[in-house]
Amino acid sequence: MTVSVEKRIEELRSEILKHDYNYYVLAQPVISDREYDLLVKELEKLENENPELITADSPTQRVGKDLTKEFKPVNHKVPMLSLSNTYDEQDLFDFDRRVKESLSENEKVEYVVELKIDGASVSINYVNGKLKTAATRGDGSVGEEITNNVKTIRSVPLKIDTDLMNKYHLKDFEVRGEVFMRIDDFKILNKEREANGEKLFANPRNSTAGTLKLQDPKIVASRKLNVFLYTLINEDQEPESQEQGLKLLKQLGFNVNDKFVVCRNIQEVLEVCEKFERIRDTLNYEIDGAVVKVNSVRQQNILGNIAKSPRWAVAYKFKAKQAFTKLLDITWQVGRTGAITPVAELEPVQLAGSTISRATLHNFDEIQRKDIRVGDTVVIEKGGDVIPKIVSVVENERPKKSQPTIPPDKCPVCKSKLFKPENEVALYCENPECLAQIKGRLIHFASRGAMDIEGLGEALIDLFVEKGFIKNFSDIYKLKDKRSELIKIERLGEKSIDNLLNAIEKSKTQPFSKVLFAIGIRYVGAGAAQKIADHFNSIDNLIIASEEEISSIYEIGPSISKSVKQFFADKKNIRMIEELKKAGLNFVSEKREIKKSSFTDKIFVLTGTLSGFSRDEAASRIKALGGKVTSSVSKNTDYVIAGEKAGSKLSKAESFGIKIINESDFLDMLNENE
Ligand code: IVH
Repeated sequence: MTVSVEKRIEELRSEILKHDYNYYVLAQPVISDREYDLLVKELEKLENENPELITADSPTQRVGKDLTKEFKPVNHKVPMLSLSNTYDEQDLFDFDRRVKESLSENEKVEYVVELKIDGASVSINYVNGKLKTAATRGDGSVGEEITNNVKTIRSVPLKIDTDLMNKYHLKDFEVRGEVFMRIDDFKILNKEREANGEKLFANPRNSTAGTLKLQDPKIVASRKLNVFLYTLINEDQEPESQEQGLKLLKQLGFNVNDKFVVCRNIQEVLEVCEKFERIRDTLNYEIDGAVVKVNSVRQQNILGNIAKSPRWAVAYKFKAKQAFTKLLDITWQVGRTGAITPVAELEPVQLAGSTISRATLHNFDEIQRKDIRVGDTVVIEKGGDVIPKIVSVVENERPKKSQPTIPPDKCPVCKSKLFKPENEVALYCENPECLAQIKGRLIHFASRGAMDIEGLGEALIDLFVEKGFIKNFSDIYKLKDKRSELIKIERLGEKSIDNLLNAIEKSKTQPFSKVLFAIGIRYVGAGAAQKIADHFNSIDNLIIASEEEISSIYEIGPSISKSVKQFFADKKNIRMIEELKKAGLNFVSEKREIKKSSFTDKIFVLTGTLSGFSRDEAASRIKALGGKVTSSVSKNTDYVIAGEKAGSKLSKAESFGIKIINESDFLDMLNENE
């Protein structure tokens, strides 16, 4: 091989990286797409011919070859905090007062106001000038490793300039920011999905978060994600201020949103926040507020954190966007648990970038309280959440003949009589054979957070149920015996059926916690299922557990434990589990490879407020080391971790003679074992 090949490869790499920067960071491309593609093609060719010259930081390696098998957990050395919210002038002034109270008298405080980008946060670690790992926020202390996916984002430098690295002592540093999808790219993506009959993303934030969690970096690369960085963490040389940090990030080649403003007082901060709210609709990315940060890092360090959020920064949330439209009809939907939910069918209207034609009405009480009637002109609102809601009715525009809405007395699907349990607002269809419930249970079972059967979505489940192929969970695993009948169904074809059957087989490897969530016990969401699975390790242990034992689990309350007991008291459910066991699903937790530590099998109770962690974070650190966390003190408790303002649990622990440790003992224990 000649030296000139090596040289040309180097040249091409730096050329391409420069153009990536021009295009993705500066938004000022200097060559055409075609010219750019030619450079990439030439580099690919030379690398193919000389594979020994491929390096991890070559732009061709943004899309790694390997599918990510699963996302590994990553401990955040510095926790990824969230922000407390402010909504108006008063909240902001209160924040300013609290900041000043914690600093020496008459200290000047400057603030930096940034846009609050509505995406998914990410932390990227560079070692010796090269991108090493990237991780999601997760619960703030442990995230998921998504390096391969983040490397596909073209505005993320794969390496940084050596001179700058040396100048600023950047041997091992982290940058944090928000990954987002531009609104126009989001719209194109949804159009493509619509054309392919795929489910649409509700907003750019969801499509960003969904894309970052894809297993195949090639698809991630095709989705055009971008990222704005706003934090530089360098233990060797902290920036002096947020402003300096942002400038250094920019100098290092990161994409920094340049709309940030340095303010000398809180009045200026308020004006900038209001200005950001006014320019919101002119941007090609979504923002849901402004972030106000104390500029001086010295002052930030004095202010410190409370539990999950810093005392030196707050989010200023924008008001939800509103629109007027007409309520055409109210329909009643039957969920998988039989709960009947009213849905508003609206005259389509544009709101916050999407067309809204339906809104949730939650339950009948809400309709009554707001006196919502068909024919009304209504105000709808879309907050941070995906689902729009009806805020109020414009009463003076109400048609003369309008009638108050009355609730149905029969199930709109199976026509059985509805029932309203005491203490609940919802009406229920109590017929477990109701087609809507059957479909709802199956949709939930196959869905992404549950058994994750790709391809088995609402449309196919509707079809299979209508045609009598499936009625319960175990029927899904018998579909493979009906292959010859299935491929005859119009529109499906051999290939898609085989893909589906493969996906069904693959779902058998889902862990016990997902299976427990999939079987749809009322009130047992994904988080609760995980906690219950971690505690009991098998369905057999759970079936025989008492209600008290279930509710002793940290954050599992009495309504969940009662519902779990009720579920297993029904013989039909026990039979269903037997069938699924026969099919080969996991009803036992996998043995996790946790090294034995002083946490192993020890039961912890958390009480009071910890200054360095939220309870969730503390609990997940304990669990990661093999310990268990329960919510109440009993004689089985091994340790009580007492934070500030610890209450009755502490005295109970004292009376039982249980070992009580404070936050700093706990930190020591973590440090010894992690
Ligand atoms: S600062 C301790 N700055 O908002 C500092 N966050 O609730 C924490 N976000 O998790 C973050 N734009 O995902 C910061 N300019 C910005 C931001 C921003 C968006 C997100 C971020 C964070 C959440 C805070």
